[in-house]
Amino acid sequence: MRSVFNDAFRPKKIEALEDEVRDLAYQLIDDFIDEGHCDWVKQFAIPLPLLIIGKQMGANPDDIWQIKEWTEAFFHRISLMQSEDEELLSVRKEIEAQHYFQPIFERLRERPDDSLLSALVNTVIEEWGRPLNDNELHAEMMADTFVGGSETTTNAISAGVKLLIENPLAWEQLQSDPDRYLKVFIEEVLRLESPVQSLMRATAKDVELSGVTIPAGSLINIRFAAANRDERRFENPDALDLDRPRAGGHMAFGSGKHHCLGAPLARRELHWSFKALVDRIDTLRFAEGKNDFSYHPHYLLRAMKSLHIEFTPK
Ligand code: HEM
Repeated sequence: MRSVFNDAFRPKKIEALEDEVRDLAYQLIDDFIDEGHCDWVKQFAIPLPLLIIGKQMGANPDDIWQIKEWTEAFFHRISLMQSEDEELLSVRKEIEAQHYFQPIFERLRERPDDSLLSALVNTVIEEWGRPLNDNELHAEMMADTFVGGSETTTNAISAGVKLLIENPLAWEQLQSDPDRYLKVFIEEVLRLESPVQSLMRATAKDVELSGVTIPAGSLINIRFAAANRDERRFENPDALDLDRPRAGGHMAFGSGKHHCLGAPLARRELHWSFKALVDRIDTLRFAEGKNDFSYHPHYLLRAMKSLHIEFTPK
């Protein structure tokens, strides 16, 4: 599986997407710039990564809000916080998505193209001697591409703007010298906000941790977000620090053999989101009385519901 993705996300492919990501970032901002206000989550942070990955997955851009409903259903179902009835509703929505994508799989089997989905559909996995079957494709598509590849980036883009309003010094630094500060800012957003707060692991053998034995076969929750604020690793861990040394040494993309395959794409999407913001906007603030800064209840992911901002364009 990793080799299929590795190939689809090799540096040349990411480079080829660069112009598309950049143009979309400026276009989305230009769509609302004259109004002086927006819901940053709905009007920017959701559409940017969803349109980019949607195209790679053969979806029609006009269907983006329909697809969002399906990815949200998956997102809520894996929150580990739904009642049985709510879960059933989510599952029904996910099945709708399967009906939408099934004909696309079939088309790509007959006429492959250079999209990510075409690679997922057609690449023969060496060890298995076959490509993914329909069930595997549907699961893979929701978990690792649509939700893994858009909800997460959406949350980082949303969180970044909230952090910029809360930290005027960082906004000043970014405006004064984006080339110097943007890279560290992106890593700090990922570290502080950790869009993937945690994931599950099963222990293959007994493990001893701080004097406690976790027996083989246990299901454990590893908290990337906690590691990212560990004061033994990061000085003054709760601060947004655009001069932080080795800022990229966080766990927001996991680590080891499951390290995020989409990290290079996510970083380019974050780069162009904040670059377009700095280029187009002079001052920005929270819209008064419109924000409750609430997050979707979720055990694994951190997702702000909306972020209403006001700004003065440049
Ligand atoms: C800010 C955005 C993102 C964050 C915070 C994030 C976070 C993560 C984390 C923590 C993992 C590790 C899973 C584990 O240890 O089990 C992971 C894996 C993965 N991510 Fe991302 N991700 C992001 C963007 C993306 C994008 C844009 C894509 C694809 C388009 C993507 C595709 C994947 C895939 C395929 C894996 C599975 C790797 C494996 O299990 O071997 N991610 N991601």
